[in-house]
Formats: sequence, C-alpha cells, structure tokens
Amino acid sequence: MKSIVVLVSGNGTNLQAIIDACETQIKDGKVTAVFSNKATAHALERATKAGASALALDPKSFETRDAFDHELMRQIDEYEPDLVVLAGYMRILSNEFVRRYLGRMINIHPSLLPKYPGLNTYQRAIHAGDEEHGTSVHFVTEQLDGGPVILQAKVPIFDEDTVETLTARVQTQEYRIYPLVVKWFVEGRLAMVDGKAVLDGQPLGIHGHAGE
Ligand code: GAR
Repeated sequence: MKSIVVLVSGNGTNLQAIIDACETQIKDGKVTAVFSNKATAHALERATKAGASALALDPKSFETRDAFDHELMRQIDEYEPDLVVLAGYMRILSNEFVRRYLGRMINIHPSLLPKYPGLNTYQRAIHAGDEEHGTSVHFVTEQLDGGPVILQAKVPIFDEDTVETLTARVQTQEYRIYPLVVKWFVEGRLAMVDGKAVLDGQPLGIHGHAGE
C-alpha cells in the first residue's frame, strides 16, 4: 500500500475527493496523514473521520521558515510517504523541503499554468477579460507554481461570472483531475524525469496530458 501524506490549510474539499477515491478507484493508495499549518482547518476533521492522522503545526512556534519546514519534514517522514500532496496548502515551501520530496510531491493550482502563478487567479482572469480559466496539477519544484504540469481542466468564463461562481466551476473540475493524477502516480504510471512530467513513458508538454 502506498502512503499518501496531504498538506492543507483550509476546507479540504480536494483532500476529501482524494480520500473518497482511495476507497474506490485508487486501490493501492491510502491517506496516512494530513498536516495543516492552521489548527482550525476543517480539513483536519475530514482526515480524522477518514482514519488518517490529523496534525497541526503552528508556524508562530518556530523562529524561521526553515525551522518550521524541518520539523514538518521530520513528522511527515514518520509516515514514509510515497507521495506528498499539497491540497490548498497556502504556505511557501523552503527549497530544502522541495528538494526532499522532489519527484514525489504534487500541487493543484487554480489557473491554466503557466498563466497566473501566485494568488488571486480568479480575479486576475476575470479582470483580464479571459474567456476561459481552469486548474492545473503539477509536480512541485523550487520555482513557485512553476513545476511541470501533469493535467489541466478548463472551464468557460461567462459575462455574469463572479469570483464565487467561477471558483465553484473550477473546483468541480479539481475533484475530477486531482484524484486521477494521484491514481496515476500510485499505479507507477507517472514520474518526473529530467524536469519533465512523464506519463506511461511519454514526456508531457507544457499543458500536461491532453486526452483524459
Ligand atoms: C483549491 O481550489 C486549490 O486550487 C487552491 O486552494 C483550494 C483549496 O480548497 N490552491 C491554491 O490556491 C494553491 N496556490 P480545498 O481546501 O477545499 O481543497
């Protein structure tokens, strides 16, 4: 059984989608532990309900980012993760942290990367008058939101859209694509090789896998 450790900061709807998928389609994967940088994150309750360890670490108890990440790595490693999943984890990672899990850490970011790395992607897409928006699952590298894309989902932006309506439309797609990528990884079909995402032996392009 592959050990999946998930890092969260908030509601945990993506975590829930992955937990649910582990009970159905991801036969060899199990969410063993969920870590949050916020003790009040609802995601921790979801973890407990699913029988995973639910752990909160308060950044204010550490003097530096490196010290926080060091302790986080120490605790994560107790679960011997095959895969580390960032699911709405809203904290910048130290380079040492990224290097430790390089090739086995993925993130979901609400934009069609490489467009709109960083924050407020929904506002930015609406204000720019874009006709479409979406979400990307990618391997995490030292470049913020810049690692190789594995899979994206696109949605239309309508004239009457607000940040809330667009967020809801994008998140519905996240619950489809994130568990699918986790499944590929657990099944050994997905890897990061020479800085590229590779699925079934095929290097993926800048927008990731196009077909599923
Ligand atoms: C997700 O929609 C994800 O795309 C976004 O946070 C949300 C977390 O929701 N991630 C980022 O913005 C990362 N830069 P959730 O806690 O309900 O899964």
